[in-house]
Amino acid sequence: MEKGIWLAACLTAVLGAMPAGAWGQNVKSIVSGATWTATDGTSINAHGGGMLYEDGYYYWFGEHREGMKSAGVSVYRSKDLYNWENLGLALTPQGERTNTLQDISEGRLVERPKVIKNEKTGKYVMWGHWEDGEDYSKARVVVATADKIEGPYTFVRTLRPNGQESRDQTVFRDDDGRAYHIRSSENNMTVHCTLLSDDYTKPTDTYERIIPEKQYEAPAIMKIGDTYIGFFSGCTSWDPNPGHVLMTKDLMSAGDWRDLGNPCIDDGAETTYRSQSTFVLKVEGYEDAYMFMADRWNKSNIETSTYVWLPIHLRTGYPMLRWYDSWDLSIFEQMARFKRAASLEDGNTYVLLSRLSDRMLSSDEGNICLYNDDEGRNLQFVFEAVDGEEDTYRLKDVATGQCLEASGSSLRLAPEGGSTAQQWVMERQGDKFYVVKSRLNGRVLTVKDGSTKNKAQVVLDNYAASNKTKFGLYFDSKRFDYEEDNPFVSPKEAEDSTTVGVPAVGTDGGNTSVRCEGGSLVVKPGTGFEGMNSLTLYDAAGRCLLRTEAASVAGVIVAGRPAGLSEGLYMIRVENGMTKAVRTLKFIHP
Ligand code: GAL
Repeated sequence: MEKGIWLAACLTAVLGAMPAGAWGQNVKSIVSGATWTATDGTSINAHGGGMLYEDGYYYWFGEHREGMKSAGVSVYRSKDLYNWENLGLALTPQGERTNTLQDISEGRLVERPKVIKNEKTGKYVMWGHWEDGEDYSKARVVVATADKIEGPYTFVRTLRPNGQESRDQTVFRDDDGRAYHIRSSENNMTVHCTLLSDDYTKPTDTYERIIPEKQYEAPAIMKIGDTYIGFFSGCTSWDPNPGHVLMTKDLMSAGDWRDLGNPCIDDGAETTYRSQSTFVLKVEGYEDAYMFMADRWNKSNIETSTYVWLPIHLRTGYPMLRWYDSWDLSIFEQMARFKRAASLEDGNTYVLLSRLSDRMLSSDEGNICLYNDDEGRNLQFVFEAVDGEEDTYRLKDVATGQCLEASGSSLRLAPEGGSTAQQWVMERQGDKFYVVKSRLNGRVLTVKDGSTKNKAQVVLDNYAASNKTKFGLYFDSKRFDYEEDNPFVSPKEAEDSTTVGVPAVGTDGGNTSVRCEGGSLVVKPGTGFEGMNSLTLYDAAGRCLLRTEAASVAGVIVAGRPAGLSEGLYMIRVENGMTKAVRTLKFIHP
């Protein structure tokens, strides 16, 4: 048999034995946790890696390991992210061992290498975590540069940026050409960010403790529009832990990073699907397509550690990671299909997307639940305004012509009728999500037990200020040309954008009184406000200052008054199911 044919036959045999879509040649999907094979048949050895895209190729740089030993930085390239060509070592251990720690001689440790290109100098600049090979106490970075993307990279220096410790690290090149070094510092307690010099080879004096005292590591940074998103892990060495995702509109501002918790929402979330973040790749050729890259460490043999790559769900404005056994890039088309609607218009067709899981309100064999994108199950509703009722709609399912109907604490689709059981009050929240309230019983659409899973049941429950009662209004951009909205709101914008419009007329018969007493807001409601109430305070411009829950005790509701309230007129809204009272409140400093 000719060598080429024999090799092809062997490969077919090997690929046939692998799980569907496993890596090898002519691979067409991404299978996390599998052994990934380069086109030369070797296992890909590029851990703690990062990527750079150039001239139609993705270049994947990562730690080259021989067992546990650090043995340089390898580089692979691919046109499609599935089939990888092994280009060998981009950075080879080199030079003599020095006492000044200025070398990358054999035996030194280089972890989490990342490469960016400097447009001014034309050079490729690699930053990595450097240790002397004894332990992890030196906490330095190594900088190396090359004239060609695949290297060879030449050692420039090791250093501690701004004199600070630097362990897990990454570099991020912003769209204005500035680049930043982001690292775990202060004994891994605090994440720092340093602006790099114009040629990207040195730190400048500009740096910030961006995520103080949280003990996060494994940084991976992306940017979408003007929003920066950071993925991190906790600090448990090679063992996986729950990930963290944070967002900011100001990379260098400590106060602005908003921690959204674990981005993983499926089974295995508590270990980030047995992996630790390393990089986010912007995928070319698709709209808003970003891929989360992570390592599934084998702590007794780092060389055989595998890779976990997942598409990042972004359309809710809150990054989420679902688990996929395998996936391909066409998923990004599907993820970009439904857009956040800028406003709710009578007669338009929308889907409702859960803030908790990015999954859509659906009907699965008659059960109203959340479901993955699935045209046969997702409910596309025509929203029909109910005459004479503010913000109130009938939600008519396009597929069946039936309407969403409340029945006690459950939901169903039923033939169209005139009753309030089919009337829904759409209450827009500060972050542009909606609370969907039944006119029949004042209960709101709620994801049962706050589940983030596929097929999570959706029920009717009393209002609670929680993500489980928040639904986004989305439309199918393949079918409709509605105005779309940017789902990424900063915490500040979320507060500022809350407008109440014309306050709803109270249904309390005018019996409710409100006043300030010391540091409290005191409400004496009429009947219909027994038990828990929701209280919202607006300023004269309609901005929401406070939204809280408070119980009525012996006919009095007491809630904390926001600190620093200036003198003036305010509006307070008290709600208990369908009973509501809206009162003005004149605040004079006590
Ligand atoms: C992890 C870190 C890895 C590696 C390891 C060594 O916390 O993310 O990159 O340094 O510790 O224990």
